[in-house]
Amino acid sequence: MITGEKVNLCSRNQADLIREAIWGSDEETNALDPMAGKIVNCLTFAIKTLDGKHIGTCGVYNFDARDGQIGIRIGDKEYWGKGYGTDAVSVLVNCCLTTLGIKRIWLKVLPTNARAIRCYEKCGFTRCGKMIYDGIEFVVMDRR
Ligand SMILES: CC(C)(COP(=O)(O)OP(=O)(O)OC[C@H]1O[C@@H](n2cnc3c(N)ncnc32)[C@H](O)[C@@H]1OP(=O)(O)O)[C@@H](O)C(=O)NCCC(=O)NCCS
Repeated sequence: MITGEKVNLCSRNQADLIREAIWGSDEETNALDPMAGKIVNCLTFAIKTLDGKHIGTCGVYNFDARDGQIGIRIGDKEYWGKGYGTDAVSVLVNCCLTTLGIKRIWLKVLPTNARAIRCYEKCGFTRCGKMIYDGIEFVVMDRR
C-alpha cells in the first residue's frame, strides 16, 4: 500500500474488481476516458480514501526504465473535483519515479477533459504533443 494525503493506492480485492467492472459501463466516464491503446504490461492499483472507501483505479502501463504511461479513473462520481485524483496521481508519479525508476512519465487525455488536464498540470505535467488513436485525437502530457 502506498499512502498519500487523501488516498491510499492498494491492491484490489474481489469486491473492488466487481465495482470497477460496474464503473466500466458508465457512459459519462467512458466519454471522458476512452480506453484506446494497446497494453503490453501494467501495474494497477485501487484508489481508496484514507478510511478505506474504494473510489477508483489508477496505474502505469507499457513501462520500462525509460518511460511509462499512466492512467486514472475515479469511478465514484461523488468524489470528482475534491482533490482525490490529484493526490492519487501525485502518489502514482512518485512511485513511478522512485520505486520503479522510470525516467519519463506520460499520459494521453482528451483535449475537452479540462478537469483531468488541470489535475495533471497540478501534478507537474506539461503538454508535449498530440496523438491520434482509434481515430480519436488526444493531448499528450509528460513529466520527468
Ligand atoms: C480526471 C480525474 C482523475 C481528476 O480527479 P479529481 O479528483 O476529479 O480532480 P481534482 O479535484 O484533484 O482536481 C481537479 C482540478 O480541475 C479543476 N476543474 C474542474 N472542472 C474543471 C473544468 N471544467 N475546467 C477547468 N478546470 C476544472 C478543479 O477546480 C481542480 O483544480 P483546482 O484544484 O486548481 O481548483 C477524475 O475527475 C476522473 O477520474 N474523471 C473521470 C475519468 C477521467 O476523466 N479520467 C482521466 C482520463 S485522461
